[in-house]
Amino acid sequence: GDSDAPRLTVIGTGYLGATHAICMAVLGFEVLGVDADPEKIERLAAGEAPIFEPGLPELLTKALDSGRLRFTTSHAEAGEFGDVHFLCVGTPQLPGSDAADLSYVESAVRSLAPHLRRRSLVVGKSTVPVGTAQRLTGLVQDLAPAGTDVELAWNPEFLREGFGVDDTMHPDRLVFGVASDWAHERLRAAFKPVLDQGTPVIRTDLATAELVKVAANSFLATKISYINAMAEVCEAVGADIKDLADSLALDDRIGGKFLRPGLGFGGGCLPKDIRAFAHRAEEIGVGQAVSFLRQVDDINRRRRARTVDLVREVLGGTVAGKRIAAWGAAFKPNSDDIRDAPALDVAHTLHGLGGDVRVYDPAALGNARRAFPDLRYGDGAFEVAEDADVVVLLTEWSVFREVEPEALAEVVGHRRIVDGRHALDAARWRKAGWEYRAL
Ligand code: UGA
Repeated sequence: GDSDAPRLTVIGTGYLGATHAICMAVLGFEVLGVDADPEKIERLAAGEAPIFEPGLPELLTKALDSGRLRFTTSHAEAGEFGDVHFLCVGTPQLPGSDAADLSYVESAVRSLAPHLRRRSLVVGKSTVPVGTAQRLTGLVQDLAPAGTDVELAWNPEFLREGFGVDDTMHPDRLVFGVASDWAHERLRAAFKPVLDQGTPVIRTDLATAELVKVAANSFLATKISYINAMAEVCEAVGADIKDLADSLALDDRIGGKFLRPGLGFGGGCLPKDIRAFAHRAEEIGVGQAVSFLRQVDDINRRRRARTVDLVREVLGGTVAGKRIAAWGAAFKPNSDDIRDAPALDVAHTLHGLGGDVRVYDPAALGNARRAFPDLRYGDGAFEVAEDADVVVLLTEWSVFREVEPEALAEVVGHRRIVDGRHALDAARWRKAGWEYRAL
């Protein structure tokens, strides 16, 4: 990087932080990754990517070899080293509440701020309830020896798991929530290589930057639940949701993205973000404005229950004792993430109803085994389907989409398939003698 380039720290090395730190080093910045967990830091420093993210392991090696990326558990070192500090810690749902748990953000700030001795910028990337950045500004400036020379900015992150590298290197847009021209210039410097590609930037205030993130995720969740609500109506009258969705998608004001009907959304973001947003809106007295998000959530939960019902129906009314092949565990393909995964929710419910469920996933088996040790697992799409009474596609990995129905017919007990993601060619499966069903 050039000599004006700020030195960056990235606090928190989970999905977001690890990807951000690695990509920024590859783009030419000096980067220090910081995490309270020494094991995580050791593994990253040894070149081991902590998450399944296509392309990331190669870039980690490249960044470490360049000498521009280092890792530490020391916030003192981070304060000494960095000009711009990115907060990339998680904000999960609080147990027993819809609110976001801000304790990781708080503790990151409390650990870092006492070591900020010169003019520097702290940049929040985590998804937070609106108003958090304003509150953290006070906290940082109270705790930092440099006082009001330390500023806070908000730069929401829009990366998708599975496309994290590309979304970081070539984002659709950058949103800079800032309180001063100086903070804006610092952020521009910290993203110079990305800005040079012509990436659009929105400069705004802190509250708007916080809201853009939850507004975006709420819109995506609403789009998915909208098409799934239409699917419920279609089902009641025997209409075809796939044809309906395809027809809507051709109107480019609507568009086909996030309009795939099926089992609905999961993961560490969409479900908890819409709940936290609804909760925060209620706190600030505008709950009515986003009360529809409660319905978005309800529609989404009903998909899981309805998928279980459909499997039961296909099995002639009872799940108990039936062999069920569950294809997929991750919350979406190309990820090993099982947080709030619809697939495992359905598999676990079928197991609870007495089904003999065997699960296979190309990347998430390790995580699934740890979280659901009572489920049975197998090593391949065909292996778990041996003698199955029904095959249930729950996560639309390409290995499942590419299975030949004729070949699979050789191993199963009964040719029955429930396509929880509308990912298979129904006509082709029916032609091969399968009872094909989808919500
Ligand atoms: C989501 C957003 O897409 C990102 O922009 C955002 O940065 C991220 O959350 C975040 O807040 O950190 P991600 O959770 O990685 O990204 O996954 P998505 O690709 O958005 O998928 C979410 C869920 O929706 C998955 O379970 C997927 O199977 C489901 N989905 C998606 C559908 O059911 N139907 C669709 O048409 C599309």
